[in-house]
Amino acid sequence: MKKVLSVILAVAMLGVTAMMFSACGGSASSGASSNASSESKDSSTTGAKELHMATNAAFEPYEYVEGGQVVGIDAEIAKAICDKLGYKLVIDDMDFDAIITAVTSGKADFGMAGMTVTEERKQSVDFTDPYTNAVQVIIVNEKNSPVASADDLEGKTVGVQLGTTGDIYVSDVKDVKVERFNKGADAVLALTQGKVDAVVIDKEPAKAFSKQNPGTKILDDPFENEDYAICLKKGSELTEKFNTALKDLKADGTVDDIIKKYINDK
Ligand code: ARG
Repeated sequence: MKKVLSVILAVAMLGVTAMMFSACGGSASSGASSNASSESKDSSTTGAKELHMATNAAFEPYEYVEGGQVVGIDAEIAKAICDKLGYKLVIDDMDFDAIITAVTSGKADFGMAGMTVTEERKQSVDFTDPYTNAVQVIIVNEKNSPVASADDLEGKTVGVQLGTTGDIYVSDVKDVKVERFNKGADAVLALTQGKVDAVVIDKEPAKAFSKQNPGTKILDDPFENEDYAICLKKGSELTEKFNTALKDLKADGTVDDIIKKYINDK
């Protein structure tokens, strides 16, 4: 399975990269959560330089909007890193497939969005060391689902979030029809409406989406393990600093505490 998946990923990513590049522009910060910092926007009082984090805040528990703020594991780890390095964090919310372009174009200083490290993405950005890992899962309707395992995806209509590893994986399944959504939540909505047979997405957001949509369930058939890391512009001096900060925050238990605050069984 592992080998097969790597090959699939390698092939499929060529296509996804093309999509990523064509998707730049269009997705500016969403009003409600364009600035998630809990402190004042004005950094002149502290003199701290701002760092802009590009994310897609529709991915609970990693990043989601609550009370007009972007909260979640990534938001908190990013804040801890910025605090350590003496920067003020500003979170810019956008479509997931616009994040890498935001980083490569310098519109954002880094991208953090439950983003999986892939060889293809490494061609355009640098990644920090991983801060956690994850797995892709399949969400189906509890009743009368034509999909009971990964093998059943063949020939089915499957919903994914555009430009994600779920998209990459599903796109290479035989005879599959892929329905791509800007938000995972919209893919799951389509599932409840019978418009897609299954949704492939990261496990923790899948749990949140499934909970929000009674009548859906997650199959006990997880795919390949993936590492989540922060992406930065190629050659950025920040990468090294982020890695040092991350190492300290892992060593003193901060990263674990943040993850456990949002994920009960981790
Ligand atoms: N881990 C997957 C990937 O990197 C999905 C990430 C989606 N993240 C988000 N914030 N919507 O492709």
